[in-house]
Amino acid sequence: MANKSTDVCSYQRAWTLDNWVRRLLQNPYKIVGEYVKEGQVVMDLGCGPGFFSLAMAKLVGEKGKVISVDIQEEMLQIVKSKSEREGLSSRIILHKAQQEKLGISEMVDFALAFYMVHEVPDKMSFLSEVASRLKPDGRFLIVEPKFHVSKSDFDSTLEVARSMGLEQVSEPKLSLSRAALLKPGSR
Ligand SMILES: C[S@@+](CC[C@H](N)C(=O)[O-])C[C@H]1O[C@@H](n2cnc3c(N)ncnc32)[C@H](O)[C@@H]1O
Repeated sequence: MANKSTDVCSYQRAWTLDNWVRRLLQNPYKIVGEYVKEGQVVMDLGCGPGFFSLAMAKLVGEKGKVISVDIQEEMLQIVKSKSEREGLSSRIILHKAQQEKLGISEMVDFALAFYMVHEVPDKMSFLSEVASRLKPDGRFLIVEPKFHVSKSDFDSTLEVARSMGLEQVSEPKLSLSRAALLKPGSR
């Protein structure tokens, strides 16, 4: 799976990722509310225009922190404007990643990769980096769109995740999506 060329969803299509239709179909609070708690440090990988970052910033509260990660500076600037508008900027750290390296040094309680893993060329290196940043009782939710990612491609991603020491906890049911909740293995 490494080095397979992939397209990235451009910032020019950011509006397709944050609108009322999506809010109806994929309420961000319902999707991550079960995992994200007050005071936690969480990571939104491939945050795009911040559909989940903003919701998670409310869920972690004043003492928590969201690390919003993207390779497109323009996406991060959209998150910055929204967080300033909503008075949440002190809880959101913007992090520009490289396509082949996240470069996050912090350990996190929860990581989200929503509709982004299929855009990552080297899934092995990506998943190894995410696994290394999870606290021992941390959780990692991967969600991929059914319309882009076949069951067998999703299963291959989970196989790579397993080889990086992650264990599957559950298979959340989310509309239009394939999803897996993972945790660090016991080795
Ligand atoms: C389809 S969008 C999804 C955005 C957001 N997760 C959501 O659900 O609204 C995918 C995002 O992942 C980002 N992305 C792609 N490859 C990445 C990588 N290797 N590291 C970090 N972000 C990446 C893209 O720039 C884009 O903003």
